[in-house]
Amino acid sequence: MQKEKIIVPPIKCQGIKTKLVPFIKEHIHRDLSKRWIEPFMGTGVVAFNVAPEKALLTDKNQYIISFYQAIQQQLITAPVVREFLEYHGGKLAQYGADYYMKMRDDFNQNGDPLYFLFLNRSDFNGMIRFNRKGMFNVPFCHKPNRFAKAYITKICNQVQSVWEVMKDKDWVFKHCSWQETMENAEPGDYIYLDSPYIGRDTSYVGEWPDEEAISLAEYAAASPANVCLSMWKENQFRKNEHLYSYWSQFTWFDTTHFYHIGGKEKNRHPMIEVLAIKNV
Ligand SMILES: C[S@@+](CC[C@H](N)C(=O)[O-])C[C@H]1O[C@@H](n2cnc3c(N)ncnc32)[C@H](O)[C@@H]1O
Repeated sequence: MQKEKIIVPPIKCQGIKTKLVPFIKEHIHRDLSKRWIEPFMGTGVVAFNVAPEKALLTDKNQYIISFYQAIQQQLITAPVVREFLEYHGGKLAQYGADYYMKMRDDFNQNGDPLYFLFLNRSDFNGMIRFNRKGMFNVPFCHKPNRFAKAYITKICNQVQSVWEVMKDKDWVFKHCSWQETMENAEPGDYIYLDSPYIGRDTSYVGEWPDEEAISLAEYAAASPANVCLSMWKENQFRKNEHLYSYWSQFTWFDTTHFYHIGGKEKNRHPMIEVLAIKNV
């Protein structure tokens, strides 16, 4: 069987669902005339691969949203990205970490989505993290030659491929809270939830308190729309008690996902991921 082609977005983030896309698509059964809704869109990889006709894609990270809005309005295109990354990538090769820090300081002043892309593709592990004052604070990946020609081409192709998916479609990108997005859902819509993982993402400490996770489960249960939650279930050390306590009335589908830390076999850590689904 031919392997399904996955559309890889130009933005990266911790918890990106690229590897789980086939599993998610396999379990989603929805009315194609209704909306696809993501209150935690992140990189958008799930939406780009589900490719619905109508979508509401939101996140509390305004830079992700303004980046995709700019692609939608064709203010950011593959040639624009190429020119930007060639120019600033050249400076990065010349001045190294100092230049990365200058770009980070500038971004924290101007909030420009192209600067966000530059940082996201040259920072440590493609992470997205802000301090309490809302300042982007991920360190440099320490590769001054990060923006080699082939890497820039790859990013430009990713920009082009997400544009190909969204053009001609009725998609709305919006910077707002997940509560606002959930309240907007109507019967027949399909909500895909990929909130920060409770108890797992240390980089999100303080950002996703237990009360918020519980409130999300309550909103999901009360919503008139269909809901699919992505969540971790267990690994060799721990079980996700929150899932058992608050999502047990949904139907669960499991898959095992391997997280790699380095290349060694013994460093492969299996994690059981779950989709908890409510079809109304
Ligand atoms: C696990 S990531 C989503 C990953 C996404 N499914 C992907 O594959 O790229 C969680 C997202 O939720 C967003 N987020 C965190 N707290 C939020 C909140 N209170 N309201 C809305 N979005 C939030 C983060 O900005 C992040 O983009």
